[in-house]
Amino acid sequence: MQIISNCTHNEVKKAAKALKDGHLVAFPTETVYGLGADASNAKAVARIYSTKGRPTDHPLIVHISSINEMSKWAIDIPEYAMKLARDFWPGPMTLILKRSNTAKDFITGSQGSVGVRVPSHPLALSLIIELEKLGGYGVAAPSANRFGAVSPTTSEAVCEELGAYLAEDDLILDGGQSNVGIESTIIDCTGFAPRILRPGAIFFEMIANTTGIVTEYGASNNGTRTSGLFEKHYSPKARVILGYTAQPGEGFIAMSNTKTPIGSIRLASPETILEFAHTFYSSLRLADKKGLATVVVNCPDGDGLLVAIRDRLNKAAQG
Ligand code: TXA
Ligand code: MG
Repeated sequence: MQIISNCTHNEVKKAAKALKDGHLVAFPTETVYGLGADASNAKAVARIYSTKGRPTDHPLIVHISSINEMSKWAIDIPEYAMKLARDFWPGPMTLILKRSNTAKDFITGSQGSVGVRVPSHPLALSLIIELEKLGGYGVAAPSANRFGAVSPTTSEAVCEELGAYLAEDDLILDGGQSNVGIESTIIDCTGFAPRILRPGAIFFEMIANTTGIVTEYGASNNGTRTSGLFEKHYSPKARVILGYTAQPGEGFIAMSNTKTPIGSIRLASPETILEFAHTFYSSLRLADKKGLATVVVNCPDGDGLLVAIRDRLNKAAQG
């Protein structure tokens, strides 16, 4: 496996060729780093699952270069989904749509729907565009971590997670720290109204404003998979505890205006909610690097992006 920093256009082209040849390429997006494969190549996609240690019935998100590519992967796209795509792509939002024949069982976990997203990170976009020039239709990519672990927001974190599992010809593209820091909002668009399956930086109020439809949380009872429902998810090795006073020797994450409890180890002091999301996963990783058994997180109340942060926190705390 090779890590490529300061990617030139030529190196992006080589990375796209590596995808076309069936290798894996981890790449930055504005949310978290993804572990990419050519979404039309069953063998390459199978390697995503083995590299992550992920069960094969968990569907993958297909990353495409623009709204114009949606119809390759999806059919019967409702007007409210088009509105969302026009307003929020490229960006941290995944739409779940009825699948076309292009979206095979090995992408969708045999479900009737497919997840698609246009990421905004320039490196991600040019990788997808270069693969499309080679005849590809999209890049399948989950977060580039082992199954159940914390999503990586830097190329170093990808290396820590997957370095031991990637093959010689696989690549990791370095594109700095992911800007948003938590995974995309997933919106189920297979019914009459949008449903938020996983909260993220495109939040409830934004979706309602764009679509004019009141959005609900969670899957409808048509069997749609909800992200991270059953398993320990987004978890570091350290135990995560919420809303509790950190004891001496325990890690502590809170907004900058919260004092550090005596003897605890301050891991992050974000000044804003955006910074909280941006640094959150790397501060959980820092807890593991320091070998801490416990990390205490104080998260402010509120809506917007805080809904997504609390969602990940609750899942990490279940681990
Ligand atoms: O921000 C992100 O979404 C990142 C970057 C790399 O794009 N990707 C990501 O992928 O978080 P992953 O696989 O770690 O999480 C995607 C979640 C999974 O829990 C999966 O079950 C769900 O999306 N998903 C994918 N396709 C789906 C579908 N057709 N129906 C319901 N859920 C789906
Ligand atoms: Mg993931």
